[in-house]
Amino acid sequence: MIFDPFEQLIFCLGSLFIYLRKYIYKEICFGNLGHISALIKTWEHKSEKRGIMEELKLPKDFLLGTAGAAVQIEGGDRNNTWYRWCEQGHIRDGSHCISANDHWNRYREDILFMKELHQDTCRMGIEWSRIQPEPGRFDPDALSHYRDVVHELTKNNIKPLITLHHFSHPLWLEDLGGWENPAVVGYFKNYTQYVVENLGDQVSDWITINEPNVFTTYGYLYGTWPPGKKDIGAVFRVYRNMIKAHIEAYKLIHEIRGRMHFPGKTMVGVAHHLRVFDPERNRLADKIPAKLIQYLFQDLVVQAMATGKFKFPLGFGEYPLGKGVFQDFFGVNYYSRDMVRFTFNPGAVFGELKVKANSPVNDLGWEIYPEGLYRLCKYYYRKFLIPVFITENGICDSNDTLRSKYIYDHLQQVTRLINAGIPVRRYYYWTLIDNFEWLEGESARFGLVHNDYRTQQRTIRPSGRFYGEICTLKEIHKAMIAKYLS
Ligand code: FCB
Repeated sequence: MIFDPFEQLIFCLGSLFIYLRKYIYKEICFGNLGHISALIKTWEHKSEKRGIMEELKLPKDFLLGTAGAAVQIEGGDRNNTWYRWCEQGHIRDGSHCISANDHWNRYREDILFMKELHQDTCRMGIEWSRIQPEPGRFDPDALSHYRDVVHELTKNNIKPLITLHHFSHPLWLEDLGGWENPAVVGYFKNYTQYVVENLGDQVSDWITINEPNVFTTYGYLYGTWPPGKKDIGAVFRVYRNMIKAHIEAYKLIHEIRGRMHFPGKTMVGVAHHLRVFDPERNRLADKIPAKLIQYLFQDLVVQAMATGKFKFPLGFGEYPLGKGVFQDFFGVNYYSRDMVRFTFNPGAVFGELKVKANSPVNDLGWEIYPEGLYRLCKYYYRKFLIPVFITENGICDSNDTLRSKYIYDHLQQVTRLINAGIPVRRYYYWTLIDNFEWLEGESARFGLVHNDYRTQQRTIRPSGRFYGEICTLKEIHKAMIAKYLS
């Protein structure tokens, strides 16, 4: 058979396609564009070096907002674990969460800032100790306050995403053993039921628990957060209970919203604190502890909450609450990376955590490493294949000199992810207004809006204006780059 040159060309292209198709499909599905992405990277690096910043475009239906937690902003509650921790004098700068931002009384004013910045969505916390001041007693006034807050948000076209547990809970629960006591699973279910039955008509999106790994590591391993324990046994007890509480709450929220015919698609997830752990040197001695720390600090819990599987050392591969998919989105809180260097200390799983030498850092000394967001989202997306929400990302920068660039660099990674086919759907900057930053107190400033704690006077920072423009336009164009980033 004789082909003419045109047919030969088609034949060659066809064969090449058949040969490459698996590879292409894989690349398209999983976003690993291999050589192409390497080329893009080189190009990006070169542009960065030349100081050229590309324009960024986000999809029009991409949601942007800010995240916060009840204890960090509300003020006025004496019934939660962080109140006691402050009273005991643990906060580094001597400040106290009893005042915080007085958001409990000023929420209307604060929501106006969200509106002014054109936020699409707001991640807000509910304080368990207000909702359930005593075991078995729920407070309808507290509930109705949160209904007002939600109403104020939706009235301004801001979609709420509610966190049920963000590092704090009632003192009565803590005094019954807190998250170490297996009964906490039932208590958390009751609290969830009350909140969702009474707010679920207005709210379709929920985060059950914020950063179980940070809560457990600081509270039960390092002992620097409440309840101040240093007990590895407690770490795993708390993990097991938190995983069970999440799975039970996940099922319950779906069940309640379905049964009560509440509108909107129910979306439930966890906000996971994820870090990059890179070996400091290209040696097995550093690589092994880096992998081990990643597994123990995050993968173990992330996997268990998503699938119900309790792997070693949580269990031996069993599914105590059944097998399933217990998340509708994958929530990523991303801030920084750690370099891992071998140490003979088994208590540190043979890895010492360090900040990369000469790297840019925020006010708290955390490395600024935007590419980590790309790496982590890609890695976990491949595991779970569900939409990704960046539930927190932000910088402690009291002079506001680095914040705009930080936001640009991280949103650039978001666009890279989207272009690689990874469905990142939302981004929540941490945080709207400077607030009570746990152990660091009021001194650590992450806000788009400055807060004067003496007067509670709020002032939008230039980076806040920048973020506001991004929320409005869903893009960063040349004029914005010139105005805010040069
Ligand atoms: C996260 C917490 C959040 C805030 C930021 C800076 O780990 O979830 O409450 O403190 O860090």
